[in-house]
Amino acid sequence: AAAEKGGYDYFMLKEIAEQPKAVADTLLGRIDAGGSLRLDEVRIGASELREVDKVVIVACGTAFHAGLIAKYAIEHWTRIPCEVELASEFRYRDPIMDQQTLVVAISQSGETMDTLMALRHAREQGARVLAICNTNGSTIPRESDAVLYTHAGPEVAVASTKAFLTQLVACYLVALYLGQVRGTKWGDEIRAVIRDLSQISGAVERVLETMEPVRELARSLAAKNTVLFLGRHVGYPVALEGALKLKELAYMHAEGFAAGELKHGPIALIEDDLPVVVVVPSPRGRSVLHDKIVSNIQEIRARGARTIVIAEEGDEAVVPYADHLIRIPATPTLLQPLVATVPLQVFACELATARGNEVDQPRNLAKSVTVE
Ligand code: AGP
Repeated sequence: AAAEKGGYDYFMLKEIAEQPKAVADTLLGRIDAGGSLRLDEVRIGASELREVDKVVIVACGTAFHAGLIAKYAIEHWTRIPCEVELASEFRYRDPIMDQQTLVVAISQSGETMDTLMALRHAREQGARVLAICNTNGSTIPRESDAVLYTHAGPEVAVASTKAFLTQLVACYLVALYLGQVRGTKWGDEIRAVIRDLSQISGAVERVLETMEPVRELARSLAAKNTVLFLGRHVGYPVALEGALKLKELAYMHAEGFAAGELKHGPIALIEDDLPVVVVVPSPRGRSVLHDKIVSNIQEIRARGARTIVIAEEGDEAVVPYADHLIRIPATPTLLQPLVATVPLQVFACELATARGNEVDQPRNLAKSVTVE
């Protein structure tokens, strides 16, 4: 078993470390020499893709968080309306779909019953289903019209890490491909992002090299009961993912919020020395959001929160308000989750260890949930 873990104490640590390769492998062969996407394996023809008038993403857990991030990318680059729904809720509300609806089912295992039932329901309504899946030949891709495989390799730890990063890559590929096929006003941006995406695995590697202070911080918080996570834009689903990791691994009360919602309730939770992780958007690009989150950090800190700030290298505005500062490389706004999630995985894994929990097999959970 030690050999299987490649020298790591846990599969989860091994899988976190494998992320740069998993990301690179998922891009491999999908970008041609001219910098355009080649997704011939998605056997839905260009003319059909041009007719799509709505995208609906269905998934559970971590895969659902990938879907939430995909929505920002799909709507921005394609201008096609996109909904994201928990697979377990989807078919029970009589959702509206037809032949022009593209349903994207995201699943690491390809065996999650809720996601499978959602896609069956979608196909009965005439929608076309594209699976994003990590397991060759599993049920979800077999029952879909097309599949885009993530190439993360087998994921053993119950807590999903490398599969999530590759789901994000696959979602960006789908969004960019739809944009490319349909031709939008974002043509130049799409080409630039494809270039950035092809370099992103190096950025993930750099994050992994700087994780010791994150581990130290996690150990120092082992006796806490609650950790909150805040984010905006694509940082919001990252906050949800950080909270989910902490629940399943550290068995701590953890919640993710959209930072703009603070004043609508959650700020009442802030008390002295409560750890709050804040995912800060890039100060470049959509800088309005950046400035707003900096004032959110000030607000919670004034009420006693211990702020753990994840911010881009060179973002100096956050420095005065960060009790702990975790740096991530600069990326295009929409790609930031690929680097911002990694410290949260390391944080949760180390907290689990510090609390004496079983990292690879958390209590009450199964790797794939094959019952409803
Ligand atoms: C993630 O850490 C969880 N273990 C869980 O939320 C998981 O992502 C979810 O059950 C979906 O699984 P799937 O990707 O295999 O469909």
